[in-house]
Amino acid sequence: MNTLADRQGKQPIIAAENLSKVFTSGIFIRARTEAVRDASFEMYPGTVLSLIGESGSGKTTIGKLMLKLIKPTSGKLLYRGQDITEIKGKDALRDYYRKVQGIFQDPFSSFNPLFRVDRVFDMVYDVFLPHVKNREERTAEVLESVNLNPARILHQFPHQLSGGQLQRLLIARSLLLDVDVLVADELISMLDASTRMGILNLLVDICRERGMSILFITHDLALGYYISDYTMIMHRGRLVEKGATEKIYKNPVHPYTKMLFNSVPDIGHKWDRNEKFVPEHVEREIEAFYRKNAGQGFTYVDAEHGVLLSAE
Ligand SMILES: Nc1ncnc2c1ncn2[C@@H]1O[C@H](COP(=O)(O)OP(=O)(O)OP(=O)(O)O)[C@@H](O)[C@H]1O
Ligand SMILES: [Mg+2]
Repeated sequence: MNTLADRQGKQPIIAAENLSKVFTSGIFIRARTEAVRDASFEMYPGTVLSLIGESGSGKTTIGKLMLKLIKPTSGKLLYRGQDITEIKGKDALRDYYRKVQGIFQDPFSSFNPLFRVDRVFDMVYDVFLPHVKNREERTAEVLESVNLNPARILHQFPHQLSGGQLQRLLIARSLLLDVDVLVADELISMLDASTRMGILNLLVDICRERGMSILFITHDLALGYYISDYTMIMHRGRLVEKGATEKIYKNPVHPYTKMLFNSVPDIGHKWDRNEKFVPEHVEREIEAFYRKNAGQGFTYVDAEHGVLLSAE
């Protein structure tokens, strides 16, 4: 991808090359869902990449592929140049799971309700950082850096903490592990507006300071604009538009992206899961767009701005 980071000579931390995932189900009649088709993208240190699209477009599937929770059907995912399907063996896998972490929508589900916070951290040390001597000191440091009071929080159970505090804890955990890549899937959608901005700003600061790379999966176009350096728009398993956030928001080319930006009634609008997302006439417009540009495939319309012009 011809990006600014590329031109500055930075190596991507993650590179997806023609990544596809097909889910099959049913014994007699095989139902086939092409959740992700032919996705290529790069993630660079110290940058946030947003992944935006309607429900069912394949966003979480991309996140799960990166976290090595599911295997690609075809194509490759490279982590610092290495194909992640080739990462095998206990030690190599543990290193990968340490460096590439996910934070999901519901922070409560990420914690064992029976363990107090100090126990959660103990387990992180036991599994990933057995050589660290000054555990208490390190824990206090990371908790303070996410604005949590160690003395207050360490002896509490998850149900005694708010959603915002739990997400801060997850971020603190990532800091402790010194993660490279964070997959944040609808991270803040459960939080109220004020807590939300605090967590987002914290995340972006950490990303920049530590050279971490974040995949920020969201339904919220305004948040995407606010937080990300690069943006990818997903429609029916395809990345239909991607590149520098400014360029995509100022000059959308794909009819689906245009529809998204036109249909945002107010800042912070999110799709209702039951909403009919893509109106019939937009689907027809997309088909006509692909027909008109037949044979052109994914094309760069500008240095940092690519569009799927035809979908064969
Ligand atoms: N384990 C699975 N088995 C079969 N189909 C699946 C599986 N996981 C996802 N899918 C299908 O793949 C498609 C993409 O799903 P995915 O969860 O990636 O969408 P999403 O963009 O994250 O949606 P949302 O915004 O609702 O979270 C959907 O059609 C979904 O039903
Ligand atoms: Mg999802």
